Amino acid sequence: MSTVTDTTGWTPAKRLDGKVAVVVGAGQSPGEGLGNGRAAAIRFAREGARVLAVNRSIDSAEETAEMIRKEGNEAVAFKCDIRHEADIIAAIGEARRRWGALDVLHNNVGVSLGGGDADLMEITEERFDNIYQTNLRGVAFTCKHALAIMREQRSGAIVNVGSAAAVGLYPYVAYKATKAGVNAMTEQLALQNARYNIRINAILPGLIATPMAVETRARQFGKSRDELMAERAAKVPLGRQGTGWDVANLALFLASDEASFITGVCILVDGGRVLNRI
Ligand SMILES: NC(=O)c1ccc[n+]([C@@H]2O[C@H](COP(=O)([O-])OP(=O)(O)OC[C@H]3O[C@@H](n4cnc5c(N)ncnc54)[C@H](O)[C@@H]3O)[C@@H](O)[C@H]2O)c1
Repeated sequence: MSTVTDTTGWTPAKRLDGKVAVVVGAGQSPGEGLGNGRAAAIRFAREGARVLAVNRSIDSAEETAEMIRKEGNEAVAFKCDIRHEADIIAAIGEARRRWGALDVLHNNVGVSLGGGDADLMEITEERFDNIYQTNLRGVAFTCKHALAIMREQRSGAIVNVGSAAAVGLYPYVAYKATKAGVNAMTEQLALQNARYNIRINAILPGLIATPMAVETRARQFGKSRDELMAERAAKVPLGRQGTGWDVANLALFLASDEASFITGVCILVDGGRVLNRI
């Protein structure tokens, strides 16, 4: 298994030294390139965190954990489908059982086309429910069980990965509406948990060159990977798609004490894409 090279020239500064981080959605969809959750898990571990790499596909989580361990850092894979509360309780409980605390919850799971999303005139109840259970209810319930521990500790940071689709143009309403729900939930939970010294923020990625975004769409629209990559890059004012590292860099900042006065914000990582709506 190969290690992944950081393309942003990042130098680790141990911003999460000794912290316990649960990264939910720490695997990635099959295909070329780096997913957002895997990048965050690797970045957190390089900065000193012990990482529980949680994912529905245990093989994919194990691949991430193995990449981290190969670099001499600490990670354990854990199987969990966030559509089931019992799985979430087991995953969050495992971090505390193993390492005695929960400092960071990174909620990376999200599905759109790969989860059955479609134009509203074509989507079925079952597919809509799957997007909702994954993108909104699942994220709410990981927060629920992490917050129970963080309130006891009187410390913690939660980073929710939403989407620029929540505030920009997006053709599929199940994804857009559930991601808009993540923003609303982030603000509300931030307000209700500030008194416990818990910070909750969201990242809204734009067009990121992850296997989930590129490969799924190439298949769906019958295009080559290169064609799709070029089309996506052309939509971004900064002239390129983002990478998992661009998302992970903000996740690290929000999870770290450097962001100790920041809570309840939803920050775009989109190369200016949302400015370019017309
Ligand atoms: N790639 C983009 O362009 C883009 C843009 C905006 C937002 N995002 C958001 O970034 C996040 C990660 O996206 P990515 O492109 O890296 O995707 P990805 O599919 O590679 O990563 C998501 C991970 O979550 C896992 N997962 C899916 N359903 C799950 C479930 N029910 N329980 C547990 N694990 C589950 C998948 O197996 C995968 O490992 C998502 O929330 C996505 O909505 C991505």
